[in-house]
Amino acid sequence: MVEPILEVGGLVKHYPLTQGVLFKRQVGAVKAVDGVDFTLHKGETLGIVGESGCGKSTVAKMLVNLERPTQGLIKYKGEDITKLSGKALKSVRRNIQMVFQDPYTSLNPRMTVGDIIGEPYDIHPEVAPKGDRRKKVQDLLDVVGLNPEYINRYPHQFSGGQRQRIGIARGLALRPEVIVADEPVSALDVSVQAQVINLLDRLQSDFELSYLFIAHDLSIVRHISDRVGVMYLGRIVEIGKDAEIYDHPTHPYTQALLSAVPVPDPEAREHRERIILAGDVPSPTNIPSGCRFRTRCWKARERCALEVPALAVPAEFRHTNGPEAHDSACHFAETLSVSPSTPGGAVPPEEPE
Ligand SMILES: Nc1ncnc2c1ncn2[C@@H]1O[C@H](COP(=O)(O)OP(=O)(O)O)[C@@H](O)[C@H]1O
Ligand code: SF4
Ligand SMILES: [Mg+2]
Repeated sequence: MVEPILEVGGLVKHYPLTQGVLFKRQVGAVKAVDGVDFTLHKGETLGIVGESGCGKSTVAKMLVNLERPTQGLIKYKGEDITKLSGKALKSVRRNIQMVFQDPYTSLNPRMTVGDIIGEPYDIHPEVAPKGDRRKKVQDLLDVVGLNPEYINRYPHQFSGGQRQRIGIARGLALRPEVIVADEPVSALDVSVQAQVINLLDRLQSDFELSYLFIAHDLSIVRHISDRVGVMYLGRIVEIGKDAEIYDHPTHPYTQALLSAVPVPDPEAREHRERIILAGDVPSPTNIPSGCRFRTRCWKARERCALEVPALAVPAEFRHTNGPEAHDSACHFAETLSVSPSTPGGAVPPEEPE
């Protein structure tokens, strides 16, 4: 068994809702992340998928210490990093880096590409002493497929795909072990998405990286993920190996998401089930009792409002040992094939830029 590099347990982030100007009092909370557990193994890619607002970015920010958890553990190589400070925290942070969603706004327009990529060296000069920096940054440009001579250019002189390459180069500058990529291709054209995903794939083997790859669309993560976790309203509702989730989903929410993935083959399209989700995602300030998905679930019964379903292998599959025997937080889990198998995912092959 490959060793875990990150272990997340009972992770919670609640943002207080306050009232009053002078004497603020708490009247509720935005339950952005409400009890998330997962393990990321060394060299693995774990995809995290869910609709906008379900807490994906908040999880990402807690992993890289941009937000402090309200509760829960984040273990890096067995050590809880949520309590660290000073030098110990700095050294862990170096090993867990983030690639952001929007390459148009995440790069400072007034800084040259060389300064953007080399900025992490200001905090960690031990990785690249001043005299070495230019060479290191040029090497990074080369590694992500950009011309090293572009080092003095500004972000606006690049295309969206190239800017995301700059963001990736910056994420690699400190030679981290874990990259948290928060929707790294969502803002890009479909043809460019494939190039950036293929680049991330190559970098993973070249630099032995472990990825947490966040997306709102199941079709994008299939290509790159070994395992996939599906989030709904601040929790993971189903998690398993790639083929388990795509070909044998047991949670109604995953089944609904998969049924919405576009299918190119017209015949396959005709034969598959379409599930239309009723209503909107409830507000994270007011999470439904019992199963949080019940207000939109076509299978909901009384038990669903009373009992919170645990994220575990459902009892009916516990002894099958088949692909349906993976963690799913549903009292009435059953398999339903909703997407025709598309090996390798819906991502087209790489084209030259
Ligand atoms: N700083 C904040 N204060 C209050 N609410 C927040 C804050 N950041 C995020 N939220 C809320 O938390 C929920 C989850 O947000 P986010 O993690 O960005 O979701 P996702 O990345 O899945 O779209 C949303 O309802 C969002 O409005
Ligand atoms: S526990 Fe009930 S409401 Fe929740 S997903 Fe399962 S059937 Fe639907
Ligand atoms: Mg987000």
